[in-house]
Amino acid sequence: MTDAQNIQQEKKNELYEKNLKGIKHTIVVMSGKGGVGKSTIAVNLAYSLADKGSKVGILDTDIHGPSVIKMTGTEDKKLMHQEGKSPTPVQVTDNLVVLSIASLLQDPDAPVIWRGPMKINLIKQFMEDIEWPALDYLIVDCPPGTGDEPLSVIQILKKISGVVIVSTPQEIAYLDVRKAINFAKKLEIPVLGIVENMTEIVCPHCGQHIELFKAGSGEKALKDFNIDLLGRIPFDVKVVQSGATGKPFIGENADTEAGKRFAEVSENIMKKL
Ligand SMILES: Nc1ncnc2c1ncn2[C@@H]1O[C@H](COP(=O)(O)OP(=O)(O)OP(=O)(O)O)[C@@H](O)[C@H]1O
Ligand SMILES: [Mg+2]
Repeated sequence: MTDAQNIQQEKKNELYEKNLKGIKHTIVVMSGKGGVGKSTIAVNLAYSLADKGSKVGILDTDIHGPSVIKMTGTEDKKLMHQEGKSPTPVQVTDNLVVLSIASLLQDPDAPVIWRGPMKINLIKQFMEDIEWPALDYLIVDCPPGTGDEPLSVIQILKKISGVVIVSTPQEIAYLDVRKAINFAKKLEIPVLGIVENMTEIVCPHCGQHIELFKAGSGEKALKDFNIDLLGRIPFDVKVVQSGATGKPFIGENADTEAGKRFAEVSENIMKKL
């Protein structure tokens, strides 16, 4: 390495250490299967913590399908670049910032074709090239499964407070939950618990709860795995609408059944930290 490169690397290392020191709690949201609601839960958890006055950041590590910027309505916002300073994450509200690969890309519709080592490098860059504000919570949204991204996140962010595993409650999805639990165990990261998502539909007319999957398979799996249930979130069409329009579901919908359950999940997570 040349002297200039050495100085640049030293600067990166300094910023990396400073960023890590400034984060009190890092929560990693994972799942065995895709499409179970990780990003939705990560985003609503972040808003709920920020609404209570905490400083919160969301790091979207889903390089191939970054949905957090859509869900936070920040698609048009780019990173702040100030002359001579490192860029900072995108500001969503006073208490909430978000960083996603999508904020760095020129063309949001272009597919990202990167292999393992490049992804690891990118997640490292998220921490050594970006100046994060001091945070009470950093919520990390992962792509499905136990691949390169969650592994890199855990290696790079080092001090992880815990993993939240999201699953729908059918037996087949719970088979994949086992992999996520074993992954966390192997890496010696605490599992805060499971969020069961889309468990039932609450009829908007009569309030009746309609089970979507065979009841009870979730309970059995929780017992088998010896992990806690952080909450059950019903299916609510407004969750889809708010995700698509970039407004958090909680907040406006705090009084609905799903709104109350989202709040319960974040309270249960806070209690565990
Ligand atoms: N409780 C819910 N009620 C209704 N729709 C929901 C609920 N949770 C998530 N969804 C919807 O399901 C879809 C998938 O959710 P989301 O993108 O959060 O899943 P994911 O696990 O992050 O997916 P991926 O594995 O692709 O990253 C989205 O359209 C979202 O709005
Ligand atoms: Mg997602």
